[in-house]
Amino acid sequence: MKPFTIAIAGKGGTGKTTVSGLLIQLLVERAEGPVLAIDADPNANLNQALGLKFEQTIGGLERETLKTLTDLPAGMTKGRYIEYRLQQLLVEAEGLDLLVMGRGEGPECYCIVNHILRNYMDFLAGNYKYMVMDNEAGMEHISRRTTTDVDVLLVVSDANPVAIRAAERIDELVDELNINVKERYLVLNNLPDRLPQKAKEMLEGTGLEVVGEIPRDEALLGLSWEGKSLESLSPDSPALEAVRVIMDRVLCSRERAFLSH
Ligand SMILES: Nc1ncnc2c1ncn2[C@@H]1O[C@H](COP(=O)(O)OP(=O)(O)OP(=O)(O)O)[C@@H](O)[C@H]1O
Ligand SMILES: [Mg+2]
Repeated sequence: MKPFTIAIAGKGGTGKTTVSGLLIQLLVERAEGPVLAIDADPNANLNQALGLKFEQTIGGLERETLKTLTDLPAGMTKGRYIEYRLQQLLVEAEGLDLLVMGRGEGPECYCIVNHILRNYMDFLAGNYKYMVMDNEAGMEHISRRTTTDVDVLLVVSDANPVAIRAAERIDELVDELNINVKERYLVLNNLPDRLPQKAKEMLEGTGLEVVGEIPRDEALLGLSWEGKSLESLSPDSPALEAVRVIMDRVLCSRERAFLSH
């Protein structure tokens, strides 16, 4: 079975990791099945948002195995060895596992390690009900590391013109990279009390449907200053409530897709 896959993208600093973390937290709370969180940003910090520690990244393992593949434990094939090490990378928590991609080797590396990685990722994904990917703006990992289709892409933007333009660019990039994305939406985050008229006009021009609006929530910023995980956020946080609405809409779209088949 394939997991219902939600990918989060957007310009740097717009709140991708925060939205990913809150969404993951809410999906785990629903307890419908295990969630796989993938940190696909080279500057990994989803683990911190989730309050989890990781030992090594997939990129790190890739570099290490490329160096040591000639020196394997006796009786072990390359494939078996890499799979074994990959299993050790998975961070396990209650209802949730985390995999951290780290920095990759560059798109030109079509080596055996990459091939095994792809297969392993696809195999692994089959164990989960939901998969949530926190991406970098470039979306490179999605196209390289897994063949899994994306059910819903959430492009996060704040009310600034640079972030809105970046959201439009990501929308185009998805088509250029031929990533199979079933539905895509814009998530507005960190919003002031009143959205400036200019932002409204620009947003209307993007062609992306807004699935939810997350207000500026000082408590989130406070946690970030203190380096605390999102778990410490009060259950009545307005940002958490807004992400709950987004989750419900996204999951409704899953049911719609299911019924139309
Ligand atoms: N709705 C919000 N209200 C207040 N602060 C927020 C909100 N959303 C995010 N932030 C704060 O903005 C900062 C950037 O958020 P976050 O790390 O989630 O962005 P990002 O897009 O993942 O950044 P990067 O591109 O560096 O990975 C953090 O300090 C976070 O706490
Ligand atoms: Mg981030």
